[in-house]
Amino acid sequence: MGLLDGKVAIVTGAGGGIGRCHALALAKEGAKVVVNDVGGDRSGSGAGKSMADTVVDEIRKMGGKAAANYDSVATMAGGKNIVKSALDAFGRLDILVNNAGILRDKTLLKMDEAMWDSVIAVHLKGTFACTHAAATAMKDQGQGGRIINTSSTSGLLGMFGQSNYGAAKAGIAGFTRVCALELVKYGITVNAVVPIAKTRMTEDLPRYANLKEGELDPAFISPVVVFLASGLGKDINGKFFLIRGPHISAMEVKTTEGVGKEGMWTPQEIAQNISKIMAW
Ligand code: NAI
Repeated sequence: MGLLDGKVAIVTGAGGGIGRCHALALAKEGAKVVVNDVGGDRSGSGAGKSMADTVVDEIRKMGGKAAANYDSVATMAGGKNIVKSALDAFGRLDILVNNAGILRDKTLLKMDEAMWDSVIAVHLKGTFACTHAAATAMKDQGQGGRIINTSSTSGLLGMFGQSNYGAAKAGIAGFTRVCALELVKYGITVNAVVPIAKTRMTEDLPRYANLKEGELDPAFISPVVVFLASGLGKDINGKFFLIRGPHISAMEVKTTEGVGKEGMWTPQEIAQNISKIMAW
C-alpha cells in the first residue's frame, strides 16, 4: 500500500532537478504522474521532449504509471493542456506540484525587460496558469485536491542579483496564501516548499563548490511534497516549508508587537520610537 494509491499527480518541470525527484517520489507512493517539462536550458532557451520522456521511462521501469507533457507552464493554454494530459491519460487529477523554473540573473540596473518578463512568466504566471486549470478540474471532480508551489529564500529573504526571480518567488508566496484561503472550501489545500538543493540551477554558485557527495541532494525536498500531497498532510494549508538537506523548518511572515498612540504620529515621534516599533 502506497500513501498515494489511486491518486493522479502533475509535476511541472519534472524532467530534471527537484521536479524529477518529486515525480519519482510520488510514483513510488503509488501516484500516477504526469511529467511535464518543456526541456529547455537553465535560462529557458530551447525545448525538447527527452527530459520528460527520460523521467517517464524511469517511473515505468520501477513499475509505476506516468505520462509525458511538453507544454510550457507560462501560458493559460499551456496550463490547461497540462491538466488535460492528466485527465486524458488517467481520468482524474488530485495533486499539482508547481515546480518549473528558469533563472536569468542580473543586478537591477543591468536587468532588461526580457529577463524580467521571462522569469515572471515561467514562475509566477506559470504557477497561476497551472493552478487555475488544476483547481477548476479538482472542484468539478468534487473530491478535494492538493497544490504544492515552489517559492525561494530569494523571494522570502532576498538574494543579490535576483530581482526578477525574487519578485516571482515572493509573488508565488502571496499567491499561495490567497489560494489557500479561497480553495479550502473545495477541500483543496495549497502550500509551498522553499528548497535549497544542488541542481543545474545552483551548481555553479561558489557556496556549492565544496559540498560532499549527496549533500543538498534534490531528493531531500520530495518527502515534504509527498507528505503534503497525502492524507498525512490534509490539515496543513497555506504553509511554507524550508528544506535544506535533511533539515526541515517552517517559514512565515511575522509582525512585531508594535506601538500605538492617540491620534496620528508625526515623523519625529516615529523616529523617537523606531526601536520600540521594530523590536522583536
Ligand atoms: P532545474 O533547472 O533543474 O529544474 C527546473 C525545470 O523546469 C527544468 O527541468 C526545466 O526544463 C523546467 N522548465 C523551465 N521552464 C519551463 C516551462 N516554461 N514549462 C515547463 N517546464 C519548464 O532547477 P531546480 O533547482 O530543480 O528548480 C526547481 C524549482 O525549485 C524551481 O522553481 C526553482 O526556482 C526552485 N528553487 C530551487 C532552488 C535550489 O536550490 N535548487 C532554491 C529555491 C527554489
